[in-house]
Formats: sequence, structure tokens, C-alpha cells
Amino acid sequence: MACSLIILLAFFASMATQGESRAFFVFGDSLVDNGNNNYLITTARADSLPYGIDYPTHRPTGRFSNGLNIPDLISEHLGMEPTEPYLSPLLRGKKLLVGANFASAGVGILNDTGIQFLNIIRIGQQLDYFKEYQTLVAGLIGSEQTQALVYKALVLITLGGNDFVNNYYLVPFSARSTQFSLPDYVTYLISEYRKVLRKLYDLGARRVLVTGTGPMGCVPAELAQRSRAGECAVELMRANELYNPQLTQMLRGLNTELGANVFVAANTYSMHMDFITNPQAYGFVTSKTACCGQGPYNGIGLCTPLSNLCPNRDLYAFWDPFHPSEKANRIVVQQILTGDNKYMNPMNLTTILAMDSRT
Ligand SMILES: *[C@@H]1O[C@H](CO)[C@@H](O)[C@H](O)[C@H]1NC(C)=O
Ligand SMILES: *[C@@H]1O[C@H](CO)[C@@H](O)[C@H](O)[C@H]1NC(C)=O
Repeated sequence: MACSLIILLAFFASMATQGESRAFFVFGDSLVDNGNNNYLITTARADSLPYGIDYPTHRPTGRFSNGLNIPDLISEHLGMEPTEPYLSPLLRGKKLLVGANFASAGVGILNDTGIQFLNIIRIGQQLDYFKEYQTLVAGLIGSEQTQALVYKALVLITLGGNDFVNNYYLVPFSARSTQFSLPDYVTYLISEYRKVLRKLYDLGARRVLVTGTGPMGCVPAELAQRSRAGECAVELMRANELYNPQLTQMLRGLNTELGANVFVAANTYSMHMDFITNPQAYGFVTSKTACCGQGPYNGIGLCTPLSNLCPNRDLYAFWDPFHPSEKANRIVVQQILTGDNKYMNPMNLTTILAMDSRT
């Protein structure tokens, strides 16, 4: 009797905290996909070991990480469960109120990015699913409450890397690199991304963290393919240098147009460069060699059960040829939370959460 009372009280206490918490929505590519691609016929997947080896279940989930990824760590900070993939059959009923993850590994800003991965959820489709989600939730709590939930939510979107790595630079003389010079391609990407973000706003998003591209030229895959002596690949670094400042500028323009700081730029380039240029200071033995892979820098091919695998993932900045380890993700999320204007523009997530809890 006393025991069931305690359980009941614990239940109400958890309901109360849920009432205060805000929903979290995630859009984008493999850096933030929590497993949508498990449900698709695609080659872009992370549903076999050693992916997930350090996840709480020690099982692969579809996350491109040894353990938790960036959205998981943001959820953890918000005191929430990780976002469920939108395609997961587990995302039903009350769970919908926590938010949803619409991301899909392989996608980019452009529709032709990632076509080699076959069936993935392109960004336009992710936004359509967000609309569908709102209809589902309206069926549970009514449309007014649903709109309030979406307005109050935190949103994360991570796109752009694949538009370079898996499109423009995928092969020499790719269609896009023949069509555009790099500066013109960047201008085109930014103008297309602006439309995506504007649509996200029109669908009700009011607090959106937008990550730039990480240092694409420094990932083990690019070191293996393009670097002579372990230096970051020059062309991809040039892409970063052109793209990221224009992204920040575009977000500033959108905010001005909307009359509110809806979009917040996260300079993931600088966040990564800190530990890439000085791995030892962050507790890594290397920022060049991936934990899981094969060939030079463990940067060739995919991370599979047959790959080299390091015993301690926390000592590696890169988990696989393209994706950071959980440890590296933690460093990035720490900067998202508390970074100054070099990292977060116009403000960090701690400031956002404090501001929004007052309104
Ligand atoms: C991408 O595809 C969507 C949906 O088919 C379409 O609405 C959009 O205009 C396309 N974008 C470009 C740049 O062609
Ligand atoms: C977050 O950003 C604010 C404003 O730029 C800054 O004053 C603060 O030190 C940063 N960190 C935290 C934890 O708020």
C-alpha cells in the first residue's frame, strides 16, 4: 500500500516535470539521425555493431556514433529522453509530446545530395513529416495546444556537410562542380537553405539551433583520400571558410526579417577545430585516426564488424571515418550550452533556456 503510494507520487512528480519541459525536434543528416534510416532501404545506415557499442544498451540504434550523439546530449541536458526517430513504431501516444527526430543520414540541403544512398528522407520530406506530426498530436491534445507545444519547442537542424562531401566533392568533375565554381555553389546552397529555414519557421519553429559545417577536410576519410602528410584537405577547408560565415550572415538576415532571434548559429567548425588542433588538451590521443575503420587513418570505407576498433573510444576524437565520438560530441554540446560569441551567435543555449523560462 505504502509502496504503491510512493509509485503514484513518483508518477505525478514526473508528470509535473514533463509539464514544464519543452519538446525537442531534430532535422538533418547523419550527425543527428537517431535511427530513421533503419526503417528505409538505404546504404546509409548504422544498425550493426560496433555502432552503439557505448550506447546505454550497448546495441546499435542507427546513430552514427559509438554512444550518444549531439541531440541525445542536448536532450540529456534538458532532462529528457532521447528523441525517437519519427519512423519508429515506438513513437506513439504521449511519447509524441516529447518531440521527434526527423533526421536521415545522407541528406543535404539539395535534393540531389545523397542520391547514391537511395531511399533517404530529404529535407523537404522531413518538413512534411513535421507537418504530419502536428496533425497526429492535434488528435491527442487539440490544435491550439499543439501549436503552443511547437512554438515553445527547441529545434536543432544540421545540414550542409553532405552537399560538399557527398555531392560537389564526391567525384572529380561531379555535376555540381562542373555547374558551379565553389563560391557560386556556396551562394546557391545558402539561398536554398534560407528557403528551408523559412519553411521551418512557417511550420511553427521559434527557437532553432543551426549548426554550420564541421571541419570537413580534417575527418579521417578526407585525410586518407586527399592529404599527403596528415594536413586537413585544402579544398574542403576552403568550402568551410566560405560557407560558415555566409550561413551566420543569412541567419542574421532571417532574424531581422522575422523581428526575433529565432535562428541561432552554432559554429561547430570552431568547436571541432579546438580539439582537432590540440587533441591532447582535450584528453584525446589523436584527432586524425578514427577509432573504427581501416586503411590510413582508419579512414577508408565503412566502420563494420570487420574493421579495426580501438579499445577506449573516449581517447579518439573521431569514431568512424566521418563522425565524432561521443566524447567529442560532449565537447561540442558543452560549447553549444555555454560558448561565447566565437561559438554561438547571437547567444548560447544556456542563455536561450534562461530567457524562455522567464516568458
Ligand atoms: C526539392 O524537392 C522538393 C519536393 O519534391 C521541391 O518542393 C523543391 O522545390 C526541390 N528543390 C529544388 C531546389 O529543386
Ligand atoms: C553564454 O552566453 C552569455 C552571453 O554571451 C555569456 O555571458 C555567458 O558567459 C555564456 N555562458 C553561460 C553559461 O551562460
